[in-house]
Amino acid sequence: MIKNYFPIDQSKSLKKKILIQPLFVDQKVKNSKEIKGLGNNKSWSSSSIIKAIEKDLKKGINNFLLFIVPNKKQKNPEDFSFHYEVIRRIKNYFGKDIVLLIDTCLCSITVDGHCGVTHKKSIDLNKTHYSLGLAANTYLEAGADIIAPSDMMKNTTKYLRKIFVQNGFSNSQIMSYSTKFKSHFYGPFRDIAKSSPQGFDRSSYQLPVEDKAKAIKSSISNAAQGANYLMVKPGMTSIDLIRDIKKETLLPTGAYQVSGEYASLQMLSKAKFGNYVDLLIESLTVLKRAQADFIITYGARDIAKYL
Ligand code: PBG
Repeated sequence: MIKNYFPIDQSKSLKKKILIQPLFVDQKVKNSKEIKGLGNNKSWSSSSIIKAIEKDLKKGINNFLLFIVPNKKQKNPEDFSFHYEVIRRIKNYFGKDIVLLIDTCLCSITVDGHCGVTHKKSIDLNKTHYSLGLAANTYLEAGADIIAPSDMMKNTTKYLRKIFVQNGFSNSQIMSYSTKFKSHFYGPFRDIAKSSPQGFDRSSYQLPVEDKAKAIKSSISNAAQGANYLMVKPGMTSIDLIRDIKKETLLPTGAYQVSGEYASLQMLSKAKFGNYVDLLIESLTVLKRAQADFIITYGARDIAKYL
């Protein structure tokens, strides 16, 4: 039996078990480093991340989406040894007490910050898939529970499924960033992941916000390619899509409250225009109202005690 970590959730209320806390591990960081705009979120070293997770677990948060930022940038990424070390260390320590999702993309590894391998001013799809396959395989070998491809290239989910079967990981799970817009709400994240794209923007692979049909089609396509869970992103600007996606695919579909959305709540409260916890709970309740089955938010650890 393959475990369904995030089943379709009929309830309207927020619960800890549907929340996913993002985490950052940066090879350049000694112990921990503040992240501008993101409140209690920090970048951790590969050893201090253990303590950070322990604290979250005590609060009742046990789902994590991990972003790993390695020192070395690569033109054709194939060395994922730092990723392996980090994932292995975390899973060795916590085992089944946590659900560990790994963001699977190339933007914090490539020299130009693009989500794929580039050639002149465009993406080389074959080379991109090859690198992503190596990455995902390494993460699974290290003990990752769910692979979360966020690159938005054509047929990545299909390619990963093929690689998993070839490598004996047929039962491995994929949470696809299946409807991901080209958005201006990723600013704080790009600062931490050092992933601002150079040369050209991401409009050749991320979705245009104005096109609803295309947005839904993208999730349907990822479902057909073999994703186990779907996701819309940014969450708050995608609340009209979740229901339709679920109806078409019958798959659990979550929402990602991205860094810019979350930072705006922080800024409102810093300016004394509102209470942080009230703002956060309201924003997440709306995602729930829109039928999100799970929610990725930088504020998961902060509201755990209210749920
Ligand atoms: C990487 C990735 C991004 C985010 C998650 N994975 C950034 C991007 O597409 O530029 C955004 C997360 C956030 O803003 O919180 N592909």
